[in-house]
Amino acid sequence: MGPRFPQVVVLFGATGDLARRKLLPGLFHLSSVGFIPGCRIIGVSLDDLDLDGFRKAARSAIDEFSARKVTEADWNAFAASLAYVPLAAGPVALKAAVDEAERGLGAECRRLHYLSVPPSAALPAVRMLGEAGLVERSRIVMEKPFGTDLASAVTLNRKLHEVFAEDQIFRIDHFLGKEPAQNILAFRFANGLFEPIWNRNFIDHVQIDVPETLGLGKRSGFYEQTGAYRDMVVTHLFQILAFMAMEPPTALEPAPISEEKNKVFRSMLPIQPSDVVRGQYSGYRSEEGVDPESETETFIALKCFIDNWRWAGVPFFLRTGKRLAEGQRIISIAFREPPKSMFPAGSGVGAQGPDHLTFDLADASKMSLSFYGKRPGPGMRLDKLSLQFAMHDTGLLGDVLEAYERLILDAMRGDRTLFTTAEGIERLWDVSTHLLEAPPPVRLYPPGSWGPKSIHQLIAPHAWRLPFERAWRDPNKVGS
Ligand code: BG6
Repeated sequence: MGPRFPQVVVLFGATGDLARRKLLPGLFHLSSVGFIPGCRIIGVSLDDLDLDGFRKAARSAIDEFSARKVTEADWNAFAASLAYVPLAAGPVALKAAVDEAERGLGAECRRLHYLSVPPSAALPAVRMLGEAGLVERSRIVMEKPFGTDLASAVTLNRKLHEVFAEDQIFRIDHFLGKEPAQNILAFRFANGLFEPIWNRNFIDHVQIDVPETLGLGKRSGFYEQTGAYRDMVVTHLFQILAFMAMEPPTALEPAPISEEKNKVFRSMLPIQPSDVVRGQYSGYRSEEGVDPESETETFIALKCFIDNWRWAGVPFFLRTGKRLAEGQRIISIAFREPPKSMFPAGSGVGAQGPDHLTFDLADASKMSLSFYGKRPGPGMRLDKLSLQFAMHDTGLLGDVLEAYERLILDAMRGDRTLFTTAEGIERLWDVSTHLLEAPPPVRLYPPGSWGPKSIHQLIAPHAWRLPFERAWRDPNKVGS
């Protein structure tokens, strides 16, 4: 499960939002279940803290955000593995702290540098690591955004490569660390049932829909520069699309998987601005830190195509946004409809849309296959029925690793399967160029809605699956 060698984690941005919500609680969980024995964690941030101050900050983050119960014994062991270096102390102090942490860990121990910092702070941190002489025996985890367009991504990659080799760089996309995302691969390639129909002959269109109810909280500074397309689509949604659309890799290993994903990206047609709806929720412009004339989109819906033998002509509809009606993460695959003329008028065949296979990407993943079946009784009346699977039912929910935990562990083990490559990222920026150069105007939408009205034109003659007509069955309710 765990890495072969003991690890020293250098966590830049150790008091920031992501570290508090995910990384410190995740490292705490990995250490308390025994996956990373001997691991030492050195927090680095702009805050002028001493070790005690950092321990207090870590404890409060874990108390607030850890999904599991914190025992004093686990906390004491974790607290003893922490160290702290304020950024202002510079590379020499950082090197001294790493040397100290490595004492007793053996010559084979590895370093995991985690850059949980805003884009402007990433390259300075990389340079600091270079100056501190902390590149050898190390891997570096980078957070998005990986550039803001093709030119900036190429420059960022070039500058990164001045210090770290590509095989040391782990670009994290936490959606790929979610259990259900990996389950797409298992579902597609471990079963004989669906792969034969996983193509343009049988599939009509695909939706990847990730509405969020969340607003921006304290993130407006970051978000104003980013917007929904860069924050969610270029990273998470396109990565999920690649898992859904790729050819079977020759092995479930990093190089073959990256190759197949990159082939999907290479086959993507450039995104056309006319196939995109950009939205902004009313009230966004008056939030703190937001330009009163901001054109940043808090919502995006688009249609894109993968022009290869498997998918040519099949539209992929993607949607995501903030302050929407529901928080959901689904992939929905609509199958082509059969000829229906044999059914009597009024039978209801096709009346509730095509058959669908739907994946819910929540940690407790669910899947559903909907189809038409006969309603009991006289005549031939059809109803939309569904087969549903919920991970809840397996009793294995407790084994689920949170996405960041899984990915941190993989990076420590040097397993790149679920990480993105420089080539893939650059291609995604390349297909985005038209859109970034000539974005359609943002349209306002009321908070709590499903986005601007024009989303319906975008998908016509189809319809958005969400909101679901029939809710997921509640696994805790008998007969639901
Ligand atoms: C982050 C985005 O990467 O993913 C956020 O920056 C978004 O804007 C979040 O809310 C969604 O992640 P999750 O795991 O909560 O679905």
